[in-house]
Amino acid sequence: MAAGTARLICDSAALVDSGRAVRFEITSRDGKPQSAIALRYQGRVYGYVNACRHIPIELDLEDGNIFDLSGQYLVCSMHGALYLPNNGRCVGGPCRGQHLQALPLVEADGKVWLNVMPD
Ligand code: FES
Repeated sequence: MAAGTARLICDSAALVDSGRAVRFEITSRDGKPQSAIALRYQGRVYGYVNACRHIPIELDLEDGNIFDLSGQYLVCSMHGALYLPNNGRCVGGPCRGQHLQALPLVEADGKVWLNVMPD
């Protein structure tokens, strides 16, 4: 992993399949801090901006619990929108058909990294 092109988010072991997400912060295009989440689903890691597409509030209310009880969907804790973990598409609730904003996470050398996009 080349220095300066990726930011360390967490150890791979911190992400359990359909388990608690790891929260981190990114900087939005307008320079403001923005909550983001890293999670594991069916063995792969995924990252999303932590903002529901119904109302842009954090999906998990700050505790990292993002999966529903089945472990198959990400659920918004406010009104229950359901998102597919592997592509962020909302498949149930008031924002059905919209997508969470995906972030380019990669897993290498036992770590999870955020690819940093050039400006
Ligand atoms: S704020 Fe997420 S479903 Fe309403």
